[in-house]
Amino acid sequence: MTGSATPDLEPRALPIIGVVGAGAMGAGIAQVALEAGSEVVLHDVDPAAIERARAGIQRGLERRAAQLDLDPDTIDAWAAGRLERLRDARTLDAVAAEAELIVEAVLEDLGLKQEIFRALDAAARSDTILATNTSALSIEAIAAATAQPARVLGLHFFNPVPRMPLVEVVPGEVTSREVVARAEDIVKTLGKTPVRCTDSPGFIVNRVNRPFTIEALRLLESGAASVEGIDAAMREAGFPLGPFELMDLTGIDVTLAAARGVWEGLGRPDHLRPSEIQERLAAAEHLGRKSGVGFYVYTDGRRDSVAPEFRVSEPPGTALPAAEITSRIFRAIDAEAERTLADGVATESDIDLALRLGAAHPMGPFERMSTSG
Ligand SMILES: NC(=O)c1ccc[n+]([C@@H]2O[C@H](COP(=O)([O-])OP(=O)(O)OC[C@H]3O[C@@H](n4cnc5c(N)ncnc54)[C@H](O)[C@@H]3O)[C@@H](O)[C@H]2O)c1
Repeated sequence: MTGSATPDLEPRALPIIGVVGAGAMGAGIAQVALEAGSEVVLHDVDPAAIERARAGIQRGLERRAAQLDLDPDTIDAWAAGRLERLRDARTLDAVAAEAELIVEAVLEDLGLKQEIFRALDAAARSDTILATNTSALSIEAIAAATAQPARVLGLHFFNPVPRMPLVEVVPGEVTSREVVARAEDIVKTLGKTPVRCTDSPGFIVNRVNRPFTIEALRLLESGAASVEGIDAAMREAGFPLGPFELMDLTGIDVTLAAARGVWEGLGRPDHLRPSEIQERLAAAEHLGRKSGVGFYVYTDGRRDSVAPEFRVSEPPGTALPAAEITSRIFRAIDAEAERTLADGVATESDIDLALRLGAAHPMGPFERMSTSG
């Protein structure tokens, strides 16, 4: 889907990409850079994380090679050639010495990120771009740890990186235009689509798409619709997963933390207040797929049935019709899109693009509003 890899066997001359943190996101970012033909220098404090990342990247490159229109004899050579361009760096200095763009993807902890940016800033050439993949921290606060904040910005990739085409590009207040333009060019060479947004809570997708789950939870709380009814209605409207299936997959704790972050960052508006249902499930460690129960029950990793506490027996005709469910959720998303636009976070077209590519919406909110009048 990314279209990032070119079938040529000889990688093109591309910028060397540094990646700090070899977890789910760092490994994914390294993989797409290798697919595109870049050299990658990868650093993690945990050698086991590097080993896991390398094994995952190898499998990813082999899968990618098999999808390309290559001569069968060259498939293995393509993947091996790309993998050869992945190097481990034991220190941050070693990453800083080589990379033209460094993407930090360590744990979501401001103090840790600041420490890493301080070290990278001191060690890297002055034209090296320093990017963070943070989902929820302020770019400004991270850049404040450096002597050259003009070269710091957010590059927010989506999970899983090899399959998700979107990158939110988030300049801080003093990021230079030249740095933003170069970063966007590099994002495009990785086969990704950049959208620009301001350094604000949830950026675009995590804010505008918040009502996809929050409004679904409100409908459930009010008794107007069931878990299965809401999921089915949203799937019918073109989404790959309904809101409850999505929360179970992402993890109810992770969804709740994101919901809290955006709600608090925006000054605790009522319409984005996290639901008590999420709080209750997270406290009970009913976290979704990973704990075997959330909105649904999972047996051997496969979905079994709706969790007992959400089972309902509705007399026929009392549940909200599917069209009303989708319209309530869309109205809430559209209202958040309007607020996000009014706050100057991004343009209409970038909000639409971000929701389509970053949250699998069949249509962006402004496209929907203009279509439905
Ligand atoms: N997982 C997602 O869906 C997602 C999506 C977008 C953005 N993000 C953001 O990306 C970042 C990474 O998330 P993740 O899910 O890949 O986390 P993860 O827990 O999978 O990986 C984090 C990695 O950072 C390493 N690390 C910790 N301290 C380090 C240090 N001092 N130096 C080098 N490496 C260190 C850990 O060993 C680990 O391998 C976070 O900021 C997160 O908010 C995550």
